[in-house]
Amino acid sequence: MTKFDEVTATLGSLPGMREDRARELCSFVLEHGAVELLEIGFLHGKSSAYIAAILEDQGRGHLTTIDRVNVRTLEPSISETLARVGLTHRVTPIFAPRSPTWELCKMIQDGRGTRFDVCYFDGRYTRDVTGLDFVLVDALLKPGGWIVCDGPDWTIADAFDRKRTLPPYDAEERQANDVRLAFEILGDRVGYRTRLENNGWGFAQKPRKRGLFDVKRFAFPWEQ
Ligand SMILES: C[S@@+](CC[C@H](N)C(=O)[O-])C[C@H]1O[C@@H](n2cnc3c(N)ncnc32)[C@H](O)[C@@H]1O
Repeated sequence: MTKFDEVTATLGSLPGMREDRARELCSFVLEHGAVELLEIGFLHGKSSAYIAAILEDQGRGHLTTIDRVNVRTLEPSISETLARVGLTHRVTPIFAPRSPTWELCKMIQDGRGTRFDVCYFDGRYTRDVTGLDFVLVDALLKPGGWIVCDGPDWTIADAFDRKRTLPPYDAEERQANDVRLAFEILGDRVGYRTRLENNGWGFAQKPRKRGLFDVKRFAFPWEQ
């Protein structure tokens, strides 16, 4: 039995990534030969376990995954989920005390430069945060690397109406596809090839030659 199948057999009923979605992500990871992966948003760690299983089955690779500290007390927690399928060694979970953007900033500042082949983006959050996440992830992606997003058509209304606690967004903002907006508007402007599909997947490829942070600084008039 492959590790991937073991994850389905053991974690099938856990909330999170469905097996068919995991298979699609698996094809993408294999097709692009990705070995260093980043994940934004892990909840119980089911998608993390699937990604780790893909890496385990190919015998190489590592996943770094970030979520907020409040998911540490979920049952099961990501640590328990990964232990159940024997995949703890393939994953480094990071619990952000407030915002994962802070953890991304720290990674950028550690001086190790670009390091990820693929970022799986499943944060489902407002464009304010998604947009900043996109820019920060860009600084960590290798040239030609990919951001794969789940739920580009997520809306604030979908998420908050269910919980009946609405932040002060007006009706138009609540219906906006925030993740899609952040990807299309930012991605296009920084030279990414973006493709947002109608089946819940979005793909954005970093340009091989020029990333957001590689752009040469322009000269001020007094410097010319
Ligand atoms: C849809 S769930 C993730 C499910 C998981 N990827 C899976 O398929 O098993 C979204 C998660 O993103 C987290 N989240 C929301 N905004 C985030 C952000 N800006 N950065 C990182 N995680 C975020 C939430 O705490 C939540 O656990």
